[in-house]
Amino acid sequence: MSSVSALAQRLGVVAGFEDPQVGLEQYPTPPDLAAHLIHVADLQGDVEGQRVIDLGTGTGMLALGAALRGPASVVGIDVDPDPLRTARENERRVGTTADVSWVRADATDAPLRSRAESSAGADDPAHEDDTPTTVVMNPPFGAQNANEHADRAFLATAARMATVSYSVHNADSSNFVESFADDNGGAVTRAYGAELDLPRQFEFHDADSRTVDAEVFRIAWD
Ligand SMILES: C[S@@+](CC[C@H](N)C(=O)[O-])C[C@H]1O[C@@H](n2cnc3c(N)ncnc32)[C@H](O)[C@@H]1O
Repeated sequence: MSSVSALAQRLGVVAGFEDPQVGLEQYPTPPDLAAHLIHVADLQGDVEGQRVIDLGTGTGMLALGAALRGPASVVGIDVDPDPLRTARENERRVGTTADVSWVRADATDAPLRSRAESSAGADDPAHEDDTPTTVVMNPPFGAQNANEHADRAFLATAARMATVSYSVHNADSSNFVESFADDNGGAVTRAYGAELDLPRQFEFHDADSRTVDAEVFRIAWD
């Protein structure tokens, strides 16, 4: 297993959003945060040999981080086709040989089957066996009005699809995330604080960059 810094370096080539949409909260996860999240997941046995799904993949940062750690397969899902085009280019830049697919879909209504359906023998190619599913995501926080509670809907998809999930939320989300997990057959098994260094990319940002306090949660789903 490579080090976190080696993984962050490989992810340094991932290009960001060309024309970020504020309503979709399109800002990139910094490579060091993405590398740390994937490294933690890998140490827990949640990446190598697993099916990894990145909800709201954008230009593919988390999906490609997972792709560099020997997963069975990776699926990156985003509602906007533009960043998915960049994600495909990023896949070439990163140089992974993993089985990676990019899917345009609403991650709150993903066209992938739930765990229950897949174990019943559904023929969806993304669920052709009993391989555990790890969801990774840095969803919209719901900070913009049009997206209020967006992270709740993403968590609901994780509850439906994932064996375990790793999700980035804004700081002070622990009560919300823990009670959501509790109510939906999950349990938070790990949490840590992180900082999101965001470039200035929207008109209402008045500094060249800003740091947002965030928290990352690992949830094990029943
Ligand atoms: C905060 S960005 C994170 C991007 C990327 N995961 C990363 O780590 O750099 C949130 C992403 O969620 C996507 N998104 C927002 N609403 C969505 C939805 N309903 N379904 C799928 N993707 C969505 C946005 O287009 C955007 O790419």
